[in-house]
Amino acid sequence: MKLLHVDSSILNADSVSRTLTAHIVATLQDGQPDLDLASAPLGHLTQQHLAAAQGAPAPAGAEADIAASQRALDSFLAADTVVVGAPMYNFGVPSQLKAWLDRLAVAGKTFRYGEQGPVGLCGGKKIIVASSRGGVFSEGSPLASMDHQEAHLRAFFGFLGIQDITVVRAEGLAMGPEARARALEVARQHIAALASPAA
Ligand SMILES: Cc1cc2nc3c(=O)[nH]c(=O)nc-3n(C[C@H](O)[C@H](O)[C@H](O)COP(=O)(O)O)c2cc1C
Repeated sequence: MKLLHVDSSILNADSVSRTLTAHIVATLQDGQPDLDLASAPLGHLTQQHLAAAQGAPAPAGAEADIAASQRALDSFLAADTVVVGAPMYNFGVPSQLKAWLDRLAVAGKTFRYGEQGPVGLCGGKKIIVASSRGGVFSEGSPLASMDHQEAHLRAFFGFLGIQDITVVRAEGLAMGPEARARALEVARQHIAALASPAA
């Protein structure tokens, strides 16, 4: 298995999503995060990145940034399983994680437009999202329409042609100690099930 482990929480040791991704990766194989987007953030997407992705030389002074962009894309393309730590921040994903997504959506590499519309080029990969959030936004809950975190990630990776997307969710983490403990236990059980053949 070529596994890519990506974290994005700014809370480091206190982070639920980091704990969950570590647990998921340990369940699947040993390893440290390959990409820590909080300690080594990618910058905002710029016109230079778009041009470089289409083969233009990196402008003077932007070489390191363009190289980081290329590494982010290469490591994603090389992986068959990608474990993504994705806390909900202000109803969406952390801007650090969004910056990474922006480097992955490269026309001709991860998707293309055809006469029938967009075609994802990354089919066959497996995505496991460790989703953590203070409130409850899952399907059927009153705040479900405010979920622009998991919904975004499903839409994004689906656009790239990836159909195998699993979300390990710990939600309601800010709703008291009992709700938090319950959420963590649900996530732990889900992770345990990922390792079993029936998962
Ligand atoms: C900057 C920030 C923004 C947040 N925004 C939301 C939010 O919009 N909705 C929500 O339910 N929880 C929100 N939370 C709570 C986090 O989703 C929750 O603490 C989660 O555990 C964070 O993931 P982490 O522990 O992996 O960092 C926010 C937390 C932070 C630090």
